[in-house]
Amino acid sequence: MIKGCIFDLDGVVVDTAKYHYLAWKRLANELGFEFTEKDNERLKGVSRMKSLEILLEIGNLSFDEETKLKLAEKKNNWYVQYISKMDESEILPGVKEFLSQLKENGYKIALGSVSKNAMIILENTNLKQYFDAIIDGNKVTKAKPDPEVFLKGAEELNLKPEECIVFEDAIAGIEAARRANMKVVGVGSKEILKDADMVIEGFKNVSVDIIKAL
Ligand code: G1P
Ligand code: MG
Repeated sequence: MIKGCIFDLDGVVVDTAKYHYLAWKRLANELGFEFTEKDNERLKGVSRMKSLEILLEIGNLSFDEETKLKLAEKKNNWYVQYISKMDESEILPGVKEFLSQLKENGYKIALGSVSKNAMIILENTNLKQYFDAIIDGNKVTKAKPDPEVFLKGAEELNLKPEECIVFEDAIAGIEAARRANMKVVGVGSKEILKDADMVIEGFKNVSVDIIKAL
């Protein structure tokens, strides 16, 4: 029986996937190459340093560790600038209503994101109150597709993995949920998220009945 829901943050709860993309693209352009939205799918759900590795592979570039840390910091500073002006208007449509419904129906709610910026986003958007457990990039050592982030989420909710479902917009996140032995709802495009148990466009008009339909 499903007793809990674990939500990815960027691109599922808030519209921040676009800011990650803009900041990575800015870095790529500064390094002299193009970075498309299709390339960006590979970075979703992946840690900051691993994202940089993939980006540099696309640009056919390699740097020493010290330079890589500087590049990652540069991207993060731009990203933090973009999200510093964030407020409740950037919560994706239907998300607050869905979270409230889950609460009313006794489901537990966790955040499962590998971003180190998750907490400031939850604070700026006033969403922290909805979560019984918050797992972010500061609490895990392995990013998605490793299942660690979701297994920790279940553990902090005091639930078994099979009692949880995951909501994800990243290919790496869908794989992580599968490896955690959890059902997964893809949020986004059916073509990209084909390995999910079900795909929704977003949470507008989505009710808790979706859990029974899985
Ligand atoms: C990191 C990565 C980013 C990835 C995101 C997933 O965020 O930088 O590429 O899409 O996680 O949520 P950061 O810790 O830099 O905020
Ligand atoms: Mg995401």
